[in-house]
Amino acid sequence: MRVLGIETSCDETGVALYDSERGLLGHALHSQVKTHAAYGGVVPEIASRDHVRKLLPLVQLCLQQAELERGDIDAVAYTAGPGLIGALLVGASTGRSLALALGVPALAVHHMEGHVLAPMLEDEAPDFPFVALLVSGGHSMLVEVRALGRYELLGETLDDAAGEAFDKTAKLLGLGYPGGPALAKKALEGDPDRFSFPRPMVNRPGLDMSFSGLKTHTRNLYREHAGTPNVEAHIAAGFQQAIVDTLAIKCRRAMQQTRAQQLVIAGGVGANQELRQRLRADGERYGWGVAYPRLAFCTDNGAMIAYAGAQRLLAGEHTELSIDARARWPLDQLAPPIAPA
Ligand code: KG4
Ligand code: ZN
Repeated sequence: MRVLGIETSCDETGVALYDSERGLLGHALHSQVKTHAAYGGVVPEIASRDHVRKLLPLVQLCLQQAELERGDIDAVAYTAGPGLIGALLVGASTGRSLALALGVPALAVHHMEGHVLAPMLEDEAPDFPFVALLVSGGHSMLVEVRALGRYELLGETLDDAAGEAFDKTAKLLGLGYPGGPALAKKALEGDPDRFSFPRPMVNRPGLDMSFSGLKTHTRNLYREHAGTPNVEAHIAAGFQQAIVDTLAIKCRRAMQQTRAQQLVIAGGVGANQELRQRLRADGERYGWGVAYPRLAFCTDNGAMIAYAGAQRLLAGEHTELSIDARARWPLDQLAPPIAPA
C-alpha cells in the first residue's frame, strides 16, 4: 500500500511516499524560511501562496525520486489541521482532489498525530504504549499514547509553546527567524550559568507547563545587561538550559506517573541537541527507552503525514468526498480508526 503524504500546515511544503511494506520511498521538502525571514515570522497569506506554487512540482519530484508513476499511488493523506487555515486549505484541496482524480481513498491527518508517530519511521521504532513530549512552534504537551488514535493529554503549556518561547527570545536577542536553531547555535558560545533563570512550574504538582514568565525574565535580564561582553550568547545558553531542564523534569514526572517504559520526543523543538542529550541521559539513568525521529522529521515534513495516513488506511479508515481543514483540532479529540459503514 503506497500512500502519498502532503503537509502544508505552516511554513514548509512537505511531500512523501510511504509504502506499508517497504517503508519510506521518497520525501521532498520546500522550506519557506527565506521567504518569511524578512518579516521576522510566518506571514500566513504568503505561506498559502507559496504552498500553491510548490506543492504539485514537489509531488512530481517525489514520484521521480521513488521511480513511481501517479498510478502507483494507493491513497493520499493530507494534513487537515491544526495549523494556518489558508495554508491547510492548499494541501487539503490539492490532496483530496488528487485522490478523487486517481480514484483512490483520501485521509485527513492530524498534524500532531503525524509528529507523535514520526519516530516510527526510524529503525529503533517505539512500541505502544509510550509517553510523547510534543514540542513545536504551536504546541507543548505531554501525551500518553496507548494506541493509534488513543491519546490522553497529561499536561500542556498554559501560555506560550516551547518553540514559540525559543522564537520570541531569539527575536529579542536579534538572532533572527526561525529562532530555535539560531538560539541553539548562539548558546554554544555562552555560559549557561552566567545568569540565573527560573524553572517555571517545576515546584507545582502536575504536568502543565508555562513559558511566558521565563520570556519576561529574559527580557528584563537583557535590558539590564545590554552591551556587556557576549551577553546574547550567555542569555541564549541560560535560557536554553532553563527550557531543557523544565521539559526534562516534566517528562520524568510523566514517566513516573504513567509507569511508561518509553518516552518519545517529537516536534520542531525535538531537533534541539541539548534537549535530545538530556532526555537520552535521563532515560539511561532512570531506565526507560527514549526515541526520537531523525532531525529532518522533527520539524514539519510529509513523511510523518504519509505514515500516519497509512496506519489509518490499514485500519480501514478513509474520509468522505469532502475537504477537511481545521485551524483548531485538539489531539485528544481523535479516535482510533474506524472503517466507514
Ligand atoms: O514542528 P515544527 O516544525 O512546526 C510546528 O508545527 O510548529 O516546529 C517549529 C518550531 C519553531 O518554533 C522552531 O524555532 C523550533 O521548532 N525549533 C527548534 C530547533 N529547531 C526548530 N527549537 C529549538 N532548537 C532547535 N534546534
Ligand atoms: Zn509541526
